[in-house]
Parts: sequence; C-alpha cells; structure tokens
Amino acid sequence: MASEELRGKTALVTGAASGIGKSIADLFAENGAEVFEIDISFDKSRNRNESNPARSKYYADLTSSRDVKGAVEELEKIFGRLDVLVNCAGIEMSGNVTDLPEESYDKVMDTNVKSVFLVCKYAIPIILKSSKKGSVINISSDLGIQPIPNTDAYAASKGAIISLTKALSKNWAKQGLRVNCIAPGPIETPLLHRFQNDQVLDFVKSTMIPAGRLGTPEEVANVALFIASDKSSFVNGAVLTVNGGLL
Ligand SMILES: NC(=O)c1ccc[n+]([C@@H]2O[C@H](COP(=O)([O-])OP(=O)(O)OC[C@H]3O[C@@H](n4cnc5c(N)ncnc54)[C@H](O)[C@@H]3O)[C@@H](O)[C@H]2O)c1
Repeated sequence: MASEELRGKTALVTGAASGIGKSIADLFAENGAEVFEIDISFDKSRNRNESNPARSKYYADLTSSRDVKGAVEELEKIFGRLDVLVNCAGIEMSGNVTDLPEESYDKVMDTNVKSVFLVCKYAIPIILKSSKKGSVINISSDLGIQPIPNTDAYAASKGAIISLTKALSKNWAKQGLRVNCIAPGPIETPLLHRFQNDQVLDFVKSTMIPAGRLGTPEEVANVALFIASDKSSFVNGAVLTVNGGLL
C-alpha cells in the first residue's frame, strides 16, 4: 500500500505523458498528491474539460511562454496552491557541433533548459504564496556530468540544468523552498530507445553499468518521491545520480 507521503500536497509534473514523468505523476498520485500534468502530447481539446481534476492532464508546449503561463494559470484556478514542481519534459538529439544543425541545438536548449526557466518563472511565485515546504525537482542526466561522444547539445542542456538548479536553490531556501536535481543514467523509456540502438545498450549494460541492467522509470520516481516529501527537508541544491553505479 502507498505511504500517502504527499497527502495534502499539489504537484506539477511536466513530460507526464511518457517514461519517467509518467511514473513520477503516477507515484505522486498513489501517495496522495493532487497532480497537474503537462505534456505536448496530451489532447489540447481536453484542456478545460478535465473529468478528473485531481489528475489534470494539460496540453502545453513548454518552449512557449504563452503556453506555460496559460497552464500555470489553469493549475492555480483548479488547485489554488502548489507544493512540488517536477521539470521532467525533455528531448535528445545526437550529434556533435560539426554536424548538428543550429536549429537542432536551439530545439534541444529550448525544450530542455528554457522550458525549466519558464515553468519556474510562473510556478515558483505560486509555491512561495501557498506552501511553506516547497520542492522543485529538475531532471538532468548523467550525460550532463559525464558526456559521451556525439551528445554535444544534449549534454550542454543537461549541464545547464545542474547549474540552474544550484542557482535556484540559493534564492528561497529561507522561505522553505528547496531545489534539487536528479541525474538519471540509462533508463528504460521511449527516449532511450530513440537515442541508442540495442547493440549500444547491450554494450553499456555489460561494460558500463555495474548493476548490469538499465534502470526503470519507477526507480527514478522513487527518488523523486523522497525529494518531494518532507523527509528530505535538509536536501537542497543536490544532484542525485540514479544510475546503478555507472562508470
Ligand atoms: N531515459 C533515459 O535514459 C534518461 C536518462 C537521463 C535523463 N533523462 C531525462 O528524463 C526526462 C524524461 O525522459 P524520458 O526518458 O522519460 O523520455 P520520454 O520521451 O519517454 O518522455 C519525455 C516527455 O516529454 C514530453 N515533451 C517533450 N517536449 C515537450 C515540450 N516542448 N512541451 C511539453 N512536453 C514535452 C514528451 O511528449 C514526452 O512525453 C528527460 O528530461 C530526459 O532528458 C532520461
């Protein structure tokens, strides 16, 4: 049975339609949170017609300031408060600076970094107004710490998330708002399989991950639950790797 760790809290989870974000939204809801979920692959026509407000699914393109502002306004209208924000939406594009088109670099940076800036810009004032124990969790990547070849734009974007997390963690600590970052290693999701073929993943599992397997989205969600809950009350500005001991 779930522990109800988040009873009474409202959470916003981006990238909640798939993979890690979906697992986080599911686990938070199982633990008693009201969850406002944002994803570009949700059905836009359902934005103001949600049958289950405790599990609101909202279409937004997080690279658009207008979409983000509209989504956060809707969240405030429905719940009137916000305690936990998880910035999980992201994309990957392989390539190095000599072959990756400039447009691809912009798309990766807009989706992975600017989106976090925008969501924080509109959502943090609501957390500060309504919650004395706020928690922001940004999803970076092991590749933001230890890049591999041909991940130049993605690695830069995930490194930026780590610095942004550390900067944000200094701003409102006295008001009870903590900002942390999770840096997953290879996790079994659609993104990973678009990014690497099975042959590469077998090599990674057998030579680079002491655990000898990929992680699951649920294993990342469990760490997010801890960071979202009051049990992690003195954890701030941290980068938590979830990677089976990746070398
Ligand atoms: N899977 C891995 O191995 C791994 C490892 C390290 C970090 N990550 C990070 O974890 C996060 C989640 O990745 P995942 O593996 O679950 O991928 P995923 O593709 O399964 O999920 C990503 C979600 O983000 C959404 N999204 C993308 N662009 C968006 C936009 N502009 N606006 C709104 N939503 C948008 C997608 O629709 C999708 O539902 C990403 O930030 C990714 O970089 C993943």
